[in-house]
Amino acid sequence: MADTALHDPGSDPNRRDFIHIAAGAAAVGAAGALVWPLIDQMNPAGDTLALASIEFDLAKVQAGQQVVVKWRGKPLFVRARTPAEIAAAIKDDSASLRDPATDESRHKPGKAEWLVLVGTCTHLGCVPTFGGGDYGGWFCPCHGSHYDTSGRIRKGPAPKNLAVPDYAFLSDTKIKVG
Ligand code: FES
Repeated sequence: MADTALHDPGSDPNRRDFIHIAAGAAAVGAAGALVWPLIDQMNPAGDTLALASIEFDLAKVQAGQQVVVKWRGKPLFVRARTPAEIAAAIKDDSASLRDPATDESRHKPGKAEWLVLVGTCTHLGCVPTFGGGDYGGWFCPCHGSHYDTSGRIRKGPAPKNLAVPDYAFLSDTKIKVG
């Protein structure tokens, strides 16, 4: 009877538990091996992160407000312009501009109220603030660059307008940048 018990694992509760646990551990190990490469593939490489796109919900921004979003390590200005800001920008299309661009060329067609700009001064990369300077737009306090309500450089050492990133409207209230 003792011999039969040794050769029949099913009759030994301890042996049966061991087989059950070992089989379970093997199954988990196999699943783990399958899952890991998938998780690893989902970890974006550094260069992929640098190219990352972001989506932004414009409903968060009221007219006359600006939200600063971090994108590719830089601040991005998403500004809901007032009618007065838009009118001032269009009026200055004919002004003498250091980096000539119409206001219309700096926003999406029919979306003059939305200005999306890379928020780094084109002089040495400081972050300008809105509402200062001589042109009612952004002012960079580092060395005194003045941008208008279209983000165009008007005065000071910066050579270029605030950059407009690649972006698209996914709907009336959502944009995708990058
Ligand atoms: S970094 Fe803006 S004026 Fe120099």
